[in-house]
Parts: sequence; C-alpha cells; structure tokens
Amino acid sequence: MLTVVASQNGSFGLPDAWKILQDGGSALDAVEAGARAVEDNPDDHTVGYAGHPNIHGIVELDASIMDGATRRAGAVGSLQGYRHAITVARAVMERTPHALITGSGAARLAAEIGETQENLLTEGEHTYWAAEVGGSKAGLLAQVRQFTRDPRDGAGTVDFLAIDRDGNLASAVSTSGWAFKHPGRLGDSPIIGAGNYCDNRYGAAACTGWGELAIRASTAHTAVMAMARGASPAEAATIALRDLFELPTDGLLPLMHIVVLSPSGEHAAATTTAATTTAGARYAWQAESMSELAVSDRLVVQP
Ligand code: GLY
Repeated sequence: MLTVVASQNGSFGLPDAWKILQDGGSALDAVEAGARAVEDNPDDHTVGYAGHPNIHGIVELDASIMDGATRRAGAVGSLQGYRHAITVARAVMERTPHALITGSGAARLAAEIGETQENLLTEGEHTYWAAEVGGSKAGLLAQVRQFTRDPRDGAGTVDFLAIDRDGNLASAVSTSGWAFKHPGRLGDSPIIGAGNYCDNRYGAAACTGWGELAIRASTAHTAVMAMARGASPAEAATIALRDLFELPTDGLLPLMHIVVLSPSGEHAAATTTAATTTAGARYAWQAESMSELAVSDRLVVQP
C-alpha cells in the first residue's frame, strides 16, 4: 500500500515524495525528496534555507533519516551552511560507519558529498533576528532564557513517513530547530527514537514540537513500541503524547505533534494543542487511488 504521511508543512514536498513512490522508487528516496523540497522552500522558516537562526543569528540545521527494513539511521546536528540537511543525514547512514555527526564535522561531510555551501540566513530572517535579539547586551545564558521562553514561538519541523512497493518503511525529519536557541542545541529531530523512529515490523513515527520533551520521553520510539504491542496508529499517537504529561514543564503546554504510520498503511496524527491556527493542527497524506494529497485534522490529546 503506497503511502506518504507528512506534517502539514510537508504538503510542499509531498508531491515529490509521491512521484518517487509511484514510479517504483524506495521509501527512503521518497522521504528524502519530500524533506529536500521543504528545505528549499523559502516560505518555511522552520526548515532548511530561510530557517530561523540561533541566538547568534546563525542558521543551524538538524535532520535524521531511518530505514525501516534494517533500522539503519543517519543524522546531522547543528549543520551550518548547507540547506539539504536530510541528504547529509542520509550520507551519514550510507557512507559512514556512524549514526550522528554534528557541527563542523557535519559541514565537512556535506562538502565531501558535493553539497553547495551558502548562507542560509535570508534578509527577512536577519531582520527578524535583529529586531528581536540584535540589540540585546545580556550574556548568552540570559539571552537564551529571554528569547526562548515558550517553545510555541519558535517550534517547527517537517516530518515524512512512507511505505514503498516492496512494503519497506522509511522516515525523515528536518528542522532549523527552536528559533534563537543556544548555539549547538540539538532538538529531537536528529535523535533517533526521540523525533524519528521507523521499523518495518511495527511502523514509523515522527514528531514536531518541543524537542526537549521528545528527547526526555523518546516519543517516536514510544509510539512505535505501542504499535509493537498491538496499538493502532491513533492509539499509539495518543499513548506517546499522554506520556509527556508526566514531565514537569514549568507550567507550559507540553507542545508536541506526532505522525504515525503502520506497516499496512494505516495512519494517524495527534497534537497536544487545540489551536487550529498552528501548523501542528493538521497533517498531510496520500495513498494509492488518490489523485492528490489530503490534509486531515489531527487528534487532539490534552492533559
Ligand atoms: N522539534 C524540533 C526541535 O525541537 O528542534
């Protein structure tokens, strides 16, 4: 059952992913292509080129990709100067003996595989950063605390899950992370099990939202393991989000959105926010017999 499931901002890249599946390509190729397209989208300020910068005004990207057939995975963190973080993550998986490479090492790998170096900070994002942070004379820790008070202000990421003709699953996640984050901060997106997990036997899951919570609770892995115990995707998404409600969050909403796909193509998505205006409120998907993608509401799971 050919299927692609994505966070709502993935609608931009879903046709690319879908075309690959329809042409007989692999789920891995499909999720990479979908994420690459979103990384190219200058109107998406949470992923790739034109992403929100860190507290110093520098765009740092995180991404991961996972192959459900083998549970091989690759990830990059704090990648500067290269927009296609997902392709560099795939190179980590396929061309190195490693699973996660960060910082200057990730940039070095990007150059090695022929990716184009560029400044990812657009004029608009520079203006945004300068207006919010630029004049601050506070020290680094005080700045980070001041400008990252609520993850709702700076969260965003793109997720892709897919099943190909051979029944293989793959997952991809890419993000510029929390706006104005501490330099070098990694969210859940490059952490396998936190923001991304995929296993042909049980299914795949990927998160967007407050990355620190998904790291603390291994949220994507929690959802896939729930399916391993027989839960449906909707039940698995609910279990994974409910698990976050046990975490102390200083009174903040435990902001999290998750997409889940079973090996048979059943899918669901859930969110902890009922605000219909947020990007996390819906998700996009396409399956066989559909001529175009659909955008559906997520289940709302609240404390
Ligand atoms: N979920 C993306 C991040 O926290 O960076």
